[in-house]
Amino acid sequence: METSYVNAPIPAGIDLKSEIRRLCQEKNAIIMAHYYTEGAVQDIADFVGDSLALAQRAAKTDADIIVMCGVHFMGETNKILCPQKKVLIPDLSATCSLAESCPADAFAEFVHAHPDHKVISYVNTSAAVKAVTDVVVTSSNARQIVESFPQDQPLIFGPDRNLGSYLNAITGREMLLWDGACHVHERFSVEKLVALKQQYPEAKVLVHPECRGAIVKLADVVGSTARLLNYAVSSESDTFLVVTESGILHEMQRQAPNKHFIPVPPDDSTCACNECNFMRLITLEKVYNTLRYEQPEVQVPAEITEAALRPIQAMLEISERLGL
Ligand code: 13P
Ligand code: SF4
Repeated sequence: METSYVNAPIPAGIDLKSEIRRLCQEKNAIIMAHYYTEGAVQDIADFVGDSLALAQRAAKTDADIIVMCGVHFMGETNKILCPQKKVLIPDLSATCSLAESCPADAFAEFVHAHPDHKVISYVNTSAAVKAVTDVVVTSSNARQIVESFPQDQPLIFGPDRNLGSYLNAITGREMLLWDGACHVHERFSVEKLVALKQQYPEAKVLVHPECRGAIVKLADVVGSTARLLNYAVSSESDTFLVVTESGILHEMQRQAPNKHFIPVPPDDSTCACNECNFMRLITLEKVYNTLRYEQPEVQVPAEITEAALRPIQAMLEISERLGL
């Protein structure tokens, strides 16, 4: 049923962008978009941000409807933070390979096998995984949250083994890691990055910590999408090799139109960009249909909402205290 709403024909002759804005006003809806969505979707949004900023913004909104232009776990986080609001996602099949690499039952078993460990989960997880977590983190606050635990507190970190290894390296911890990964960040090519560094020796290398260690070693800056964006805009350098999903180039180019941003390609294709096929399911047409039919709606069972809210709120409180 939902598929028919998602792909319903768009009435001929309408101006999609102004119709979307009209529906937002009429329904008191807010459109939130992640930096990895296509440029046209970012341009129509009320708010564009990284995972942390999207959760912080959702927690504060007085809109009646949130349209989450991103992937499913982002919609779930919004629904958990705002259970009374209607949370829509333009395509329910926009999932996340990293979140899917961590099935809730198996993760709960792993947690129960280590009762003396506190559990830190990356925001890219299902609500059911968050429900067995002590604190959620994003790549904007992970280091500080890991460091907020006493040095001798044993920790579990899931699901991203690359981010987990990076955090272990920079904090000196030995967190037990779940063996998950993002299919987009895993496939950046070391060889192609090295070749681009030779071609642009003055360029700064911007890397997301979901990338493999061999890529992280070549970075000038490692951080969340917002951190990479802020660095690029404020840096004195004018050329950047961008090693994360290429949707971020849209905002980088918008904020720094005279700088040169070069996407680093994946190793298994001739394509220059590395795109998340799940994020790219979100189109302007689907944003219009989701507002028009108020479908598909993100639902989280009440008992999971209650258990998952605690670690999300813990993250928001620590982030606020640290000014993040
Ligand atoms: P951030 O925007 O928090 O850096 O997250 C990246 C990501 O993979 C979102 O799915
Ligand atoms: Fe998930 Fe990777 Fe896509 Fe981010 S880029 S939404 S981690 S699959």
